[in-house]
Amino acid sequence: MPEPLDTLIQQHRNEAGGLMPLLHAVQAAYGFVAPEMVEPIAKGFNLSRAEVHGVISYYHHFRTTPPGRTVVQVCRAEACKACGSDGLMAEVEQRLGIKAHETRADGAVSLEPVYCLGLCAQSPAMQVNDRLFARVTPERLPAVLSAVEV
Ligand code: FES
Repeated sequence: MPEPLDTLIQQHRNEAGGLMPLLHAVQAAYGFVAPEMVEPIAKGFNLSRAEVHGVISYYHHFRTTPPGRTVVQVCRAEACKACGSDGLMAEVEQRLGIKAHETRADGAVSLEPVYCLGLCAQSPAMQVNDRLFARVTPERLPAVLSAVEV
């Protein structure tokens, strides 16, 4: 059972710059930041709904819909692009049968682009749920994607 939203707001509302830690905490607890959460968050931080929505929509990291049971992320930032992440993303899309930013109809998997996983020296990088993978090649994809339900 995730921590109630009001509790999370209380934990972060008096922090300097507390909105970002709160949004991370909400996504960690619920998997996404639901649109109906924007109003109580705005009230808790004495901000407008537009300001909170602006932050959520600016950062690719924040989801506004529930993710699939497995979340596959492919790094699309500079170092990984230079090491073939465009082709890697195309291969992952083909294997999963969905495009970036989509969740498979059965809810098994979501595919998300990310912008640096901190493994730039070992590009291209991916993350599957909480597990990081470095120097991913198309040949390694079956093992990397083994957590995805078929
Ligand atoms: Fe991909 Fe940093 S650019 S991990």
